[in-house]
Amino acid sequence: MAVMKRAHLEKLRLCDALERIADTLPRVDCLACLTVANAIVPLLRDIHRYEETMIFPAYEAASTGGDANLASTRRLRAEHVEDECFAGEGTEILLRIGHGERVENAEAIGFMLRGFFESLRRHIAFEREHVLPRIGVPDSG
Ligand SMILES: [Fe+2]
Repeated sequence: MAVMKRAHLEKLRLCDALERIADTLPRVDCLACLTVANAIVPLLRDIHRYEETMIFPAYEAASTGGDANLASTRRLRAEHVEDECFAGEGTEILLRIGHGERVENAEAIGFMLRGFFESLRRHIAFEREHVLPRIGVPDSG
């Protein structure tokens, strides 16, 4: 279960990096953009696969009141798909500006990045507060 906590921490670090990039636009830290661009898709894919094969089945099995947990994991799985889609788009943008392409629409890019990391943070918060405690992983905040 330490794996899961580390995965969430890595994902939160990624959110922080995205927030720093969004905050400083239209100025660009090219190295930060390229680093995040390279990490984002494989990181999310690995974490999502782990959650969907190890964590969610345990959470579904721990359901006591009807299929509430099943409804939650269905939503979380759908969010994984959306997040991976966004991650793909985000990667393209970060690669372009990381390679020196001029930032024409800083506001739109900032808005898009912000929407992405805010939804990632909400997703992680739900898993930490509701999913992990139900399968015996205390919420460490
Ligand atoms: Fe998740």
